[in-house]
Amino acid sequence: MARAAPATARVLLAASFSGMVFGFLEDGHEFQESYGSSDGSQENDAFLLDEEEEAGDQEEEDKRFWEKQHQLLQATLYRTSSLETRIRSLTREAVKEIQRSETECGCRKPMASGCRSCLMREVSGRLSNAGYNSAMCKSKWRSSPDIPSGEHSFLDVVNNSSLKKGEVRVIIELNFRDEFEMARASNEYNDLVQKLPEVFVGKVERLQSLIKILCSAAKKCMKEKKMHMGPWRKQKYMQAKWLGPCKRTTSTPLLAVGDSARLRPKPKESMLTVDLLEMVHNRHCMTVVQVV
Ligand SMILES: *[C@@H]1O[C@H](CO)[C@@H](O)[C@H](O)[C@H]1NC(C)=O
Ligand SMILES: *[C@@H]1O[C@H](CO)[C@@H](O)[C@H](O)[C@H]1NC(C)=O
Ligand SMILES: [Zn+2]
Repeated sequence: MARAAPATARVLLAASFSGMVFGFLEDGHEFQESYGSSDGSQENDAFLLDEEEEAGDQEEEDKRFWEKQHQLLQATLYRTSSLETRIRSLTREAVKEIQRSETECGCRKPMASGCRSCLMREVSGRLSNAGYNSAMCKSKWRSSPDIPSGEHSFLDVVNNSSLKKGEVRVIIELNFRDEFEMARASNEYNDLVQKLPEVFVGKVERLQSLIKILCSAAKKCMKEKKMHMGPWRKQKYMQAKWLGPCKRTTSTPLLAVGDSARLRPKPKESMLTVDLLEMVHNRHCMTVVQVV
């Protein structure tokens, strides 16, 4: 890397650099912070040389970042307990079977492609039939300065019969990959998302790690593309989807007992209060309040 650029090159670089600053400022405060101190022209020159030298380093650093994310992702997906493995294969089998049989739900839509909530209810029912404490979970959160309000539905299985491990909660998301896809993302980000399973089955800690990996990747990707990242892409928002307080509803499967099962008993609902801090220590389940 040349230390002293010829004067003409400097002028050119300075011109394109001021263009860059303009672009960054347009994109919002995240970029202003790191570039804000370079207004004086002499300072600007010094900064320019650093910038030039850093271009190569930056490329290296970016490459390392994406390699690291791939490694972290592989490691997180690769580790799995026997409970997760059993629930995973049951869940995937159930989804495949429902897709194969082109099952229609009560709403008269093809369950697998048209009706996410009926598909979830059916899968959850089958897990319950197999002896798991499975439920439909609905999370709902208010807007805050960081993130807009929202709600999300998914499944979980809770096993609290191990005295040693305490309660083990396994999250099931049938459209996991979809949740992280971004329309105008970079190849690096898309490659990472392609590694995700469409049907995610894993413990809370594992989901937390994946969210962290994917959200920092999304942030990096948008920064590289100089685009603003939607608040629903933030780690906090993703955490609110699956890891915030949620309402658990257990139900019996629609179809396992034949057509008469369409008249199902009223679902049992309970409130599962999840404390984010406690969850890190895997002791998140605080109260179960019967609502119905
Ligand atoms: C464990 O689960 C059972 C049913 O799944 C429930 O009745 C019981 O209250 C749970 N125990 C604790 C400590 O959460
Ligand atoms: C729940 O956990 C206990 C202890 O780890 C295990 O023996 C049992 O098989 C589990 N239950 C289910 C339904 O997987
Ligand atoms: Zn339906």
